[in-house]
Amino acid sequence: MRHLISIQDLTDKDLIQLTDKAAGMKLPKATSVDPKKPAVSLIFAEPSTRTRVSFERAAQLGGRHTTLLQATGSSLEKEESLEDTLCNLARYGFGVHVIRQSKTGALEALRALGCGSIVNAGDGTGEHPTQILGDITALKRWGKKTGRKSVEGLKLAIAGDIRRSRVAASWAKAASRLGVQLMFFCPHEWRPLGWGEKIAWSDKKEDLNSVDGVMALRIQKERMQPGEEWIMDDFVGKFQITPQDLLEQQFLMHPGPVNWGVELAPVLRSDPRSLILEQAESALFVRYLLLDWLDA
Ligand code: CP
Repeated sequence: MRHLISIQDLTDKDLIQLTDKAAGMKLPKATSVDPKKPAVSLIFAEPSTRTRVSFERAAQLGGRHTTLLQATGSSLEKEESLEDTLCNLARYGFGVHVIRQSKTGALEALRALGCGSIVNAGDGTGEHPTQILGDITALKRWGKKTGRKSVEGLKLAIAGDIRRSRVAASWAKAASRLGVQLMFFCPHEWRPLGWGEKIAWSDKKEDLNSVDGVMALRIQKERMQPGEEWIMDDFVGKFQITPQDLLEQQFLMHPGPVNWGVELAPVLRSDPRSLILEQAESALFVRYLLLDWLDA
């Protein structure tokens, strides 16, 4: 039974093939429900728009039934465990479980449960592997437009609240496998610990000129520790990405949701360098393909 709990669950070949194929895709035509395909449960104990809706749409376009369980209104609210939840859903034909929840690393315990394939849709500050599959796909689509054959050798700055970012954590594990060079641009206090010494770090905006593009991250106020608010006083002035911080040929990314006016200047919403909506669309394509990969 296949799972995608960490980006490391994909071999290099899977990682390249899924994103190559997604980069060449258009929105598939909806097919009728195929009773042979496992239905998909969407278990979202934390808020989500992009991940939840794109998985739901991907499942529907691929001919699968879906169901949604949220933190309120399901027996998760009565503290039923994920283990019991999944094994009950498995008896109803749900063979894939896309799960977002707040406990970092908690999905590992479900790997050997035998009640369906687990997809990590974001676990606390742990990982968000399908987000970076969408990001890689968006970069490959950008490469097709700009004449770059591969993401190998690409230099990507990731900016903002790195230490708490599950997107940055998945990127830190995958970048060297793809030949992508990462630079973290953030306040010293938000620099991650123990993520590998090879990743460059900077708190100087002029260093952004040395990369191919910048991906800003959402400031996660809900996960901030008491006493960290002072960092925010400085953040907008020193770390917010503005149009002037980007060269003409650079791209801008953000996994969403964006706090306009905090990590990104609002005027960037319509900037031609932005790949933000391509990221969202690319994530739909690669999630569509991922559901078939889980069945294999
Ligand atoms: N990028 C992302 O995970 O967005 P949502 O929180 O809206 O799913």
